[in-house]
Amino acid sequence: MKILFVCLGNICRSPIAEGIAKDIIKQNSLNIHIDSAGTSSWHIGEMPCSNSIRVANLNGVDISHFRARQVTKNDLKEFDFIVGLDKSNIEDLRSIGCENPLLLGDFGFDGNDVPDPYFFDGFDGFDKVYNMIKICTDNLIKHIISKY
Ligand code: 4NP
Repeated sequence: MKILFVCLGNICRSPIAEGIAKDIIKQNSLNIHIDSAGTSSWHIGEMPCSNSIRVANLNGVDISHFRARQVTKNDLKEFDFIVGLDKSNIEDLRSIGCENPLLLGDFGFDGNDVPDPYFFDGFDGFDKVYNMIKICTDNLIKHIISKY
């Protein structure tokens, strides 16, 4: 089983989702491969943004070793679940041929977007986004386990 989390830059939101999901997988000894990617090429090779590293750290999750990459056509074949953080990510995924992208916010936040905290709100925005991603990622993994 393979799950890929996708946002725009792969430096703020999807690395948080990757870190949280990997933590859940480890704590529950699950055999699920987790990765994340961005729809854009803008930040390839970069580490997660400092506020994402900080908020993850404050919650006991180390994401500092992750490096941004862009989603590929091969990912669409390889991953069983591709999960967008907002609706524009879903549109971008569909435009490159992803047939059934999931929206993270459908797993506990009424289908809302996980907002991009990169441009606003300072650190508080990252705290809100972290909690939203945590709730939805917990639910997503429970959902996937219950189905398979
Ligand atoms: P992310 O946030 O999609 O959560 O990684 C962003 C980071 C950078 C940019 C956009 C979104 N940017 O335009 O550089």
